[in-house]
Amino acid sequence: MTLLLLCRTKEVPENEMRQFTLKGKEILAINQNMKFYCLEARCTHAGAPLAEGEVENGVLQCPWHGSRFKIDTGEVVRGPAKKQLPVYSCTVQDDNLLIEL
Ligand code: FES
Repeated sequence: MTLLLLCRTKEVPENEMRQFTLKGKEILAINQNMKFYCLEARCTHAGAPLAEGEVENGVLQCPWHGSRFKIDTGEVVRGPAKKQLPVYSCTVQDDNLLIEL
């Protein structure tokens, strides 16, 4: 595992999310109340771009068929998705968001 720079924290405004590509992986960075979460950016059901979904109360909703995933664990809260969303460990150092890949 290597800690890599994903982005500057200011690139992901509070209570918003942004998609980045790093080492060929599409990664969704979520800023919820200035706490950051990094997850796989494509829904495990049919590949929807989750950056176009919505986050509410720690749960990310897919824009296509409404699957819901916990943003801290990737656990499926509601289908149709059955497979949990991969989550990446991340940490903030100074104003950098670093991710373990
Ligand atoms: S692609 Fe996300 S619920 Fe179907």
